[in-house]
Amino acid sequence: MSNSTSMSPASNSAAGFTPGNPNDPARRTWIAVAGAAGAVGGACVAVPFVSTFTPSERAKAAGAPVEVDISAMKPGELLRVEWRGKPVWVVRRTPEMLESLKKTESQVADAESARKAYPTPEYARNQYRSIKPEYFVAVGICSHLGCSPGDKFQPGAQPSLPDDWAGGFLCPCHGSTFDLAGRVFKNKPAPDNLEVPPHTYLSDTRLLIGEDKKA
Ligand code: FES
Repeated sequence: MSNSTSMSPASNSAAGFTPGNPNDPARRTWIAVAGAAGAVGGACVAVPFVSTFTPSERAKAAGAPVEVDISAMKPGELLRVEWRGKPVWVVRRTPEMLESLKKTESQVADAESARKAYPTPEYARNQYRSIKPEYFVAVGICSHLGCSPGDKFQPGAQPSLPDDWAGGFLCPCHGSTFDLAGRVFKNKPAPDNLEVPPHTYLSDTRLLIGEDKKA
C-alpha cells in the first residue's frame, strides 16, 4: 500500500536529481521505475512555484529539509516524499512487520548498520533502524546502482522472492532485497543497507526530513 504527499513550498523545489551534490554520488542515478510515480507527481506540483525563485534561492530551497504530516498514515502504509531530488519513504510498520525483523536479523548482511558507505545516523542504529519502531524513514534508492526498489510487504512466496519472504523491498534491476528496516539481505549485489536520511520529529504527527539537530 503506498501513497504520496505534497510538501511545504520551501522544500518542494528538489524536482530533479543532482549529480554534482556530494550527497548524491553520481553512481546512484535515480532510475525511475514503477512505484516512483508518487514522487514524480510531487515534483510536478513544485515546479511552477520554484521557477519564480532566483538561482540562489532555488539552490537553497533544493537542500532544505522537508516537513511531512504523518497523521493520516494507516498501519502498513508507505508514504513517498521528495528530499533533495531523492525519493524518501516513510513506512508505518504494523506489529507483524516489526516482528518480522527478528526473523530477518540473521539473514541480512549488516544487521548492526555498521557499514559506512551510507552511514546510518546514530539514533537509527538499532534493529528497527529508526527513532520510533513504528515509523521507518529511508531513501528509496538501491545502494547498488541506484534503482528504486519496490515495496513487497506481503509475506510469503511470490515471483523473484524466496518462499519464506517476510516482507520488505525488492530492487527490480539486479534482484537485491531488503527487509522492512531497509537492511540488505546477504549475497546480494547491493553493498549496503538503504540509507536512513537525517530526520527528527517535530511532534507526534510531524516529521522533519533532512535535519536532525533536534533529535
Ligand atoms: S540497482 Fe538495485 S540491485 Fe542493482
